[in-house]
Amino acid sequence: MGVFASTDDPGSTGHEQVVFCQDKQTGLKAIIGIYSTALGPALGGTRFYPYASEEAALADVLDLSRGMAYKNALAGLDLGGGKAVIWGDPEQIKSEPLLRAYGRFVESLAGRYYTACDVGTYVADMDLIARETRYVTGRSVEHGGAGDSSILTAWGVFQGMRAAAEHVWGAPTLAGKRVGVAGLGKVGKYLTKHLLDDGAEVVATDVNPKALEWVRATHPQVELVDDASALVAADIDVYAPCALGGALNDDTVPALRAKVVTGAANNQLAHPGIEKLLADRGILYAPDYVVNAGGVIQVADEIEGFNFDRAKLRATKIYDTTREILRLADDEGVPPAVAADRLAERRMADVGRLRTIHLR
Ligand SMILES: NC(=O)c1ccc[n+]([C@@H]2O[C@H](COP(=O)([O-])OP(=O)(O)OC[C@H]3O[C@@H](n4cnc5c(N)ncnc54)[C@H](O)[C@@H]3O)[C@@H](O)[C@H]2O)c1
Repeated sequence: MGVFASTDDPGSTGHEQVVFCQDKQTGLKAIIGIYSTALGPALGGTRFYPYASEEAALADVLDLSRGMAYKNALAGLDLGGGKAVIWGDPEQIKSEPLLRAYGRFVESLAGRYYTACDVGTYVADMDLIARETRYVTGRSVEHGGAGDSSILTAWGVFQGMRAAAEHVWGAPTLAGKRVGVAGLGKVGKYLTKHLLDDGAEVVATDVNPKALEWVRATHPQVELVDDASALVAADIDVYAPCALGGALNDDTVPALRAKVVTGAANNQLAHPGIEKLLADRGILYAPDYVVNAGGVIQVADEIEGFNFDRAKLRATKIYDTTREILRLADDEGVPPAVAADRLAERRMADVGRLRTIHLR
């Protein structure tokens, strides 16, 4: 894989900038990937993970930063796409000096990249990073942050699901539908509440007994099944993957009884081609990065000074965006995942081009 785009290398990634950062004293090894700043500063979280090799860390940051450019574009944000990885085991090496050293590298990019939480980094880490840089979101409420991003992630997923329901059954509601929620974590819990309030029946599963206890105590009407495969095979109208990636794969798609898939999990399609398999089976898949953008909308709002109501209004628009993507997919005869990519690329090109109008 080459980072530099060239016409004779179709494998090149086309990123604007990739920065390697090292501080030997603290053990910091980080890579910041900026895929595009066509729409504004690149925003994306920092993943702290013990990658097997530097190549694996680089491949992940290139992939994730590109994904953020598409997600931020469709979320209607004036933000480009970036992401960072810190290579190492957070349990072993995470420390105040390491995070602050990282913060200084983020600051050195002078606002071309804004960071946030991701796997292995938390709100408290962002508060530390913020002591060295202005370009950080996902801080605690006490430090001007947006707090728990799963609230608007769940709200956005619910909006995307309403649009998918309208596309398939003619009305933007889940009332009377059976929705299978796989994963009753931070997002799954809020989503379950929205679904029940809307009049849906919820069938759910989780591997964590505490999550099951929570649902039995809070929403005893929710039906529980043993595991995700039982949920896939259950008599449900909508499947909502809200646990890990790869939920839609060569085993689950042929077994799926739902007509609609809309969930919070990132990277639901196990590999390219699964979107076609879903379309061939007549299953409507609302692309994950479109419907789960409520979280990034929530943290992005911090840049303006966090206002929950404004962020919620923006997350509500996921309903309109999902509708538009599903309509475009029908018009152009492509799966919704392809239509979403096209729409994101169009916004990056059309709005990004405006910067060529000279102002002074
Ligand atoms: N929190 C956010 O703001 C946000 C934003 C965008 C995307 N996402 C994605 O949404 C998904 C859920 O996020 P979250 O914040 O709720 O995470 P979480 O860790 O709070 O919840 C995940 C839940 O899934 C359960 N789970 C794990 N493996 C399972 C399995 N095989 N079968 C059933 N349940 C299983 C876990 O026990 C846990 O309760 C993740 O893929 C995450 O990347 C989250």
